[in-house]
Amino acid sequence: MEILRDLQVKARATLPRPVYDYFAGGAGDERTLAENDAAWRALWLVPRVLTGVAVADPSVELFGRRLRAPLLLAPVAALRLLHPDGEVACARAAADAGTVFCLSTRATADLAEVAAAAPDAPRWFQLYMGPDRGTVAEMLRRAREHGYEQIVLTVDLPVAGRRDREDRHGPVAFPAGVTLADHLGGVTDPATAKPVVGGWQALTWEDVAWVREVSNLPVMVKGILTAEDARRAVRAGASAIVVSNHGGRQLDGCLPTAVALPDVTAAVAGAVPVLVDGGIRDGGDVVRALACGASAVLIGRPYAWALACGGQAGVARVLEALIADTARTMALVGAASVAQVGPAHVRPSHP
Ligand code: FNR
Ligand code: LAC
Repeated sequence: MEILRDLQVKARATLPRPVYDYFAGGAGDERTLAENDAAWRALWLVPRVLTGVAVADPSVELFGRRLRAPLLLAPVAALRLLHPDGEVACARAAADAGTVFCLSTRATADLAEVAAAAPDAPRWFQLYMGPDRGTVAEMLRRAREHGYEQIVLTVDLPVAGRRDREDRHGPVAFPAGVTLADHLGGVTDPATAKPVVGGWQALTWEDVAWVREVSNLPVMVKGILTAEDARRAVRAGASAIVVSNHGGRQLDGCLPTAVALPDVTAAVAGAVPVLVDGGIRDGGDVVRALACGASAVLIGRPYAWALACGGQAGVARVLEALIADTARTMALVGAASVAQVGPAHVRPSHP
């Protein structure tokens, strides 16, 4: 979508190169990063005509919350590297757009500050484990206290992917006054944006239950790409599944999320919502994901570039553009509501 491409070009021209490369980059040769985008476009949209639908309603209900569209803001680390208002701006823009902001453990604003910025909006907290379970338990207690409604346990980062593009620059310099929030209890160097969260994240399925018990919140599992793991996650009590390859930043060459999604939604068979992210770049991609059985999608980089270029108003513009494009695409395929989008609305371009 043109507005998204323009914002990325503008962000590239204005951000310090190491910062731009941290946000833009993927793992290794960035094959999965590229294929995430391409795989959505490899699905043709299939319109139905004379349906009497000219205005579509893209709203959905998710975990008892009415959202204006099935489009959420994915957890992205260190947003104040892009704009002084960082996570707070994004939380407010999401609230105004009637959707969810998911705060990263690796944020540059404390979870309490973000909660206070948009107190009535639904908010989720993404969890990276630290080596000390006591610290993690305290972080989860605070997330609950401050009204986070879901814990998003990210499971595709036992170690950081090989980030060749980032490594060319070394650690990203934080602007004065910007530090990582201390959600992990000071176990990483707050003076670097490097995601040094790997190594101690040797998680197992038992940890899903641990996080649920300790947080007393629903726990969704982010980073699933197979039917087998999706079934496992449902058995482990996950509240939802996020089909994700971390925006191509972890295992380079792994399958794009648009390829993984149909297997996962078939395996889960409606037991819990299935969300998906990676390469969603217009309303057509949102409709493709819905047609493959997703309940909602998340975006990462598109809102990061919007934040870099225009702060809260920039993120708001991108959300409005994507929501409007989703509604328009639904009308063009003949679906009046999200429930009316189904498998017949997509067909592989290379059968
Ligand atoms: C991420 N992502 C991510 N995921 C997560 O669970 N915790 C995190 O802290 C981060 N941090 C992060 C930083 C940056 C710079 C990027 C680009 C991504 C992954 C993110 O939640 C999401 O899965 C992808 O960004 C989705 O792909 P797109 O929309 O960026 O293509
Ligand atoms: C990243 C980590 C922070 O992808 O999730 O950079």
